[in-house]
Amino acid sequence: MLTHDKIERNVGLLIVLTVLTVTVGGLLEIVPLFFQKSTTTPANELVKPYDPVQLSGRDIYIREGCYNCHSQMIRPFRAETERYGHYSVAGEFVYDHPFQWGSKRTGPDLARVGGRYSDLWHRTHLLNPRDVVPESNMPAYSWLDRPLKDGDIEAKMKALRVVGVPYTDDEIAGAKKALEGKSELDALIAYLQGMGTAIKQVR
Ligand code: HEC
Repeated sequence: MLTHDKIERNVGLLIVLTVLTVTVGGLLEIVPLFFQKSTTTPANELVKPYDPVQLSGRDIYIREGCYNCHSQMIRPFRAETERYGHYSVAGEFVYDHPFQWGSKRTGPDLARVGGRYSDLWHRTHLLNPRDVVPESNMPAYSWLDRPLKDGDIEAKMKALRVVGVPYTDDEIAGAKKALEGKSELDALIAYLQGMGTAIKQVR
């Protein structure tokens, strides 16, 4: 008989059975998520793939390391929902590859920052945060006021299509044109203004 006593006195057996338990438990928790509708399909019809400008802006967000200070996930706790709005749901991120949830919050969570401020506020804030928030310790991103050059935009959209983002051929063909005349700031702000807007902010 395989008693507790035998398992606890045999390190090898203990390790094997522990790994087995963790593996089975992990698989049971994780695998269903790949097939659950709530995690694999958009939360509602307003959750749309990023347009080319937002997509470029998202890459600037990643390039500049904004995620080092900002999370993009509101947890379902009152202290968070009162401050930031409705908690984040998986179906809001189905087109985010890779997602930017993060956990580091030197600055506030940005999951629902879309529409909270005007474009002009963001422009001023990104160029020098202290012009609008005197006590801010966020760095100034003064170099972002330069033309957007994203020669890879079509390739990026094609790559995203491979992992399930439903871009059409026409959208990909029109991507370069959509970026014409935009600055890096425009793109980043377009990305920020779309954040979390598909789910109405519940207060
Ligand atoms: C060193 C940490 C740090 C980095 C890096 C950083 N931020 Fe911030 N951010 C902050 C802090 C602190 C605040 C709160 C004070 C303020 O509003 O400036 C803030 C505020 C914000 C806000 C206003 C949020 C709100 O709800 O009021 C936005 C939008 C924002 N940051 C965007 C960005 C973007 C985009 C980047 C990358 C280009 C970035 N931040 C990089 C620290 C940072």
